[in-house]
Amino acid sequence: MGCEVDRVFIQAVEHRPKPTIIEVSGIPLIDLSPLNSVGPEGLQSLSGLIAEVGAACRDWGFFQVINHGVPLDLLDRIGSAAKEFFALSPEEKRKVRRDEMNWLGYFDTEHTKNVRDWKEVFDFVVHVPTVIPASYEADDQEVQELRNRWPTYPLELREASMEYARAVEKLAFKLLELISLSLDLPADRLSTFFKEQTSNIRVNHYPPCPGPHLALGVGRHKDPGGLTVLAQDDVGGLDVKRKTDGEWVRVKPIPDSYIINVGDIIQVWSNDRYESAEHRVSVNSEKERYSIPFFFNPAHHVMVKPLEELVSEENPAKYKEYNWGKFGKIRKQSNFKKLDIENLQISHFKISE
Ligand code: OGA
Ligand code: NI
Repeated sequence: MGCEVDRVFIQAVEHRPKPTIIEVSGIPLIDLSPLNSVGPEGLQSLSGLIAEVGAACRDWGFFQVINHGVPLDLLDRIGSAAKEFFALSPEEKRKVRRDEMNWLGYFDTEHTKNVRDWKEVFDFVVHVPTVIPASYEADDQEVQELRNRWPTYPLELREASMEYARAVEKLAFKLLELISLSLDLPADRLSTFFKEQTSNIRVNHYPPCPGPHLALGVGRHKDPGGLTVLAQDDVGGLDVKRKTDGEWVRVKPIPDSYIINVGDIIQVWSNDRYESAEHRVSVNSEKERYSIPFFFNPAHHVMVKPLEELVSEENPAKYKEYNWGKFGKIRKQSNFKKLDIENLQISHFKISE
């Protein structure tokens, strides 16, 4: 990536990170160990935990969890295999490069909000094949089967990744049930949307950057899917926009924890009771950083709209329905190359009051 910051990475002045950003501990920290002791009555009995999750989703759209049940050695294995992969030559990595038809594999020129990110990534889907629409055209019914692209070296990346995926997926379903209960819905109310899920895992590598005050690892954005379960290393750099005052705050790395954030789909399902949080990644000039988000996404054919149980005459639906598969397809298109238009957001489906 050169030793200077090319202008394609440079953020507009108002989006650059301030050097004074604070690392806060006020982000909700939730201990999930009660999950290990649920009796036959099920998760409903964990009213304290459900209330904590509900408050965190409402007030922050963002929280950290400990005692989450994902074995640490699975994270270590995917982490070290990914590190070996990113250490390969650019030519080697490009052998599994993403292309316009299949966005899985290696990519180092992603754009968020039309500015290039200071990062390289490796993407894979959790279920193979993953079915998505073949095009973003609304009336095109054709679908496409996505398959992963695995490098020949390191060989263990494939197995380590899939094993990790199965463990994090379990955690994601548990969190989804807790969120469902926190909205006074049955535990499995949201799970059915994930039957032919389009979830994916991304390994992010943020190399040291000579101009950390100018560029971002990932520009400000909200995650478009259901829920994100993110592992970060001990370097730090994830910033969240705090809802109470709009200030950017840094999420302090906690060993063996996950960061959970509400995605746009949960915002729409909950009819704005929960809001997805805007976040971004700051980089630094000394240390590289790794993170591994699991993006928990529903089936492509799911029509996303406020849940019937959560709307009423006094509280009418705030969004028109939209198709998740087409939405995702349009977003992928816009981060593949720099476009001159604003990319698609759920605000485009908002019903004006
Ligand atoms: C993302 C993201 C955060 C991080 O990839 O969508 O927000 O800490 N990553 O890498
Ligand atoms: Ni994100």
